[in-house]
Amino acid sequence: MKLLENKIALITGAGRGIGRVIAEQFAQDGATVYVNDLQIGDMEEWAADCSARNKVKVVPICFDITDSSAMKSALMTIYKTEGRIDCVVNNAAIIANQKLGMVTKDLLEKMYSVNVFSLIDMLQIASRLMTRTGGGCFVNIASITGVVGSPGQVAYSSSKGAVIAITKSAAKELSPQQIRVNAVAPGIIKTERFEELYEANGDKIDNRISRIALGRLGTPQDVANAVSFLASDRASYISGHILGVDGCASI
Ligand SMILES: NC(=O)c1ccc[n+]([C@@H]2O[C@H](COP(=O)([O-])OP(=O)(O)OC[C@H]3O[C@@H](n4cnc5c(N)ncnc54)[C@H](O)[C@@H]3O)[C@@H](O)[C@H]2O)c1
Repeated sequence: MKLLENKIALITGAGRGIGRVIAEQFAQDGATVYVNDLQIGDMEEWAADCSARNKVKVVPICFDITDSSAMKSALMTIYKTEGRIDCVVNNAAIIANQKLGMVTKDLLEKMYSVNVFSLIDMLQIASRLMTRTGGGCFVNIASITGVVGSPGQVAYSSSKGAVIAITKSAAKELSPQQIRVNAVAPGIIKTERFEELYEANGDKIDNRISRIALGRLGTPQDVANAVSFLASDRASYISGHILGVDGCASI
């Protein structure tokens, strides 16, 4: 039996980057995968291909996670179609690098709306559905910056610090319903977004890479492996945990 066989999963922000690779890993591990992003982009084509390669159902489901009623209707669609939702991976997020003196209230509101408020919304709506079917799990994507901080990332790192605190509190609160809540805190991961940031701040990033003890950047696959484990029954006694996937970094 595959690691996630018979599981029904939703992965947000799966149009590219880490979310896309998590979705691919879940399909390889036998899950039925609903892949969310803002725009359909290449998702229909990719989902059909991923589904054929892995012989599982992969379904694009586009909505903006900051739109609570769109989120609710998407979750109800999955619930009515599949009869349950076993796992939600809260991966979608936005990042902006701004020195403390430049951080505006507008930026904070936008970042907290996507990275924090939507996460709470998802936990509220999906956990009600999971409760009806005897439980489930969430894997939230935090960041090493939410643990150790990072210059120029007050807004982003504080939003990821909130993801960590929310994960721990929700895990405690939802345990009686047999709902596990964990987070993965990636270090520097080589994604499309990394390439964009590297173009703007290459020298600063080189300095950070030199402080990764395992001597290399992380890959989206490193993150996907950890998420897949936490979503599986092999992690059935793990909740409220923040799993660093950072190459033993001290950024
Ligand atoms: N790349 C890294 O080095 C790194 C390190 C630590 C943590 N992370 C975290 O990993 C996750 C994925 O990062 P990534 O590098 O793949 O990011 P990315 O920007 O490449 O992908 C994020 C995806 O989320 C989608 N998204 C954004 N806002 C959305 C919304 N309102 N509704 C639905 N979808 C939305 C985007 O369209 C995009 O496809 C994020 O939570 C990020 O904070 C990334």
